[in-house]
Amino acid sequence: MQKIRVDLADRSYSIAIGNECLKDIGSILEKFDFSNRMAIVSNPLIFDLYGKTVSVSIKDSGFELSEIIIPDGEGYKSLLWVENIYSEMLKAKLDRKSVLIALGGGVIGDITGFAASTYMRGIDFVQIPTTLLAQVDSSVGGKTGVNHMLGKNMIGAFWQPRTVWIDIDTLRTLPRREFLSGLAEVIKYGVIYDEEFFGFLEKNRDVILELDKDALTHIIRRSCEIKAEVVSKDERESGLRAILNYGHTVGHAIETITGYKKYFHGEAVAIGMHIEAKLSQSQGFISTNHVNRIKKLIESYDLPVEMPEDIELNSLFEVMQIDKKTVSGELKFILPEKIGSVKIHKGISRENINKVLKSK
Ligand code: NAD
Ligand code: GLY
Repeated sequence: MQKIRVDLADRSYSIAIGNECLKDIGSILEKFDFSNRMAIVSNPLIFDLYGKTVSVSIKDSGFELSEIIIPDGEGYKSLLWVENIYSEMLKAKLDRKSVLIALGGGVIGDITGFAASTYMRGIDFVQIPTTLLAQVDSSVGGKTGVNHMLGKNMIGAFWQPRTVWIDIDTLRTLPRREFLSGLAEVIKYGVIYDEEFFGFLEKNRDVILELDKDALTHIIRRSCEIKAEVVSKDERESGLRAILNYGHTVGHAIETITGYKKYFHGEAVAIGMHIEAKLSQSQGFISTNHVNRIKKLIESYDLPVEMPEDIELNSLFEVMQIDKKTVSGELKFILPEKIGSVKIHKGISRENINKVLKSK
């Protein structure tokens, strides 16, 4: 197992990355001070694939485990389903020292973390992420929450997991489009933080897409290391952590306007990363050569880079204004200065943004 530490004083934890390691989770949980009663939250698809291995391992370690299965899909990341999870937790008599285990992608991780953060004023939770996006992004850093009718991820809490247990073998059953979408976040880490890692992604495209174990372990490990470093310095996003949102100002707006149907999250972020790199170029912050390298790398992983033709720029602008990063109506962008380094920038005129959005 490879281990990375997220340094957050008394809320520090480790992220472990291995292959075919779901069967070991029971013995890992034994090392904590959890009570004997615990529950796992998952959806039917993931539970069918991996639930048995995880449950057997936990029960073999002597714990009493309840299974809480919610339907699959972003639409169920809601307060209504949190309420359902609370009911199951109460019925199972989970106590203050119980742990909630999230087995699944970002949807399961976010809702489980949020339920844990509020049940009996907060109990522990553990992440077992099974999508690439969850392994490199959502399971690390403690952002938990659910959607509201009027906005995605608008209700939530910072609540760190006690540990993150990653089995790269779970990626073998992940649909290819989900895998590619997760790769957008991996590329993001290269652009914002690490030119050498960006180079690795350029050179190793084929082995990564073939799910080579060493290549997968490396990209997940490096992504988690970067996220851990950023989160350790700025857990609650008062500054630095915002760099993790590179590509997301434009990406979120595209997702909203297209009703979360046309693009997966990573695909919208991929377009966003290219547009925001061009925005940076328009301000004279980054060279054309670096923008082209970013575009080429994104395209090489079969991800989109161009703004969809049918998007109305005025609506895009309006939606960007309600981004969580926007304060007092001033749009905030994360702009690359070169590969491996970004800056947080405010105050680009609407005219300038429109010019870049229209350009090919
Ligand atoms: P997801 O959780 O919906 O999973 C995608 C699909 O893959 C689902 O149908 C799921 O059942 C299936 N699946 C999961 N693992 C599988 C496996 N191993 N094999 C086969 N199928 C599998 O989507 P996601 O992309 O993992 O997460 C998206 C969510 O994450 C969004 O709600 C987003 O807001 C959230 N998110 C949170 C953070 C954070 O910091 N908390 C960061 C980024 C995204
Ligand atoms: N996904 C962005 C963050 O965790 O801050």
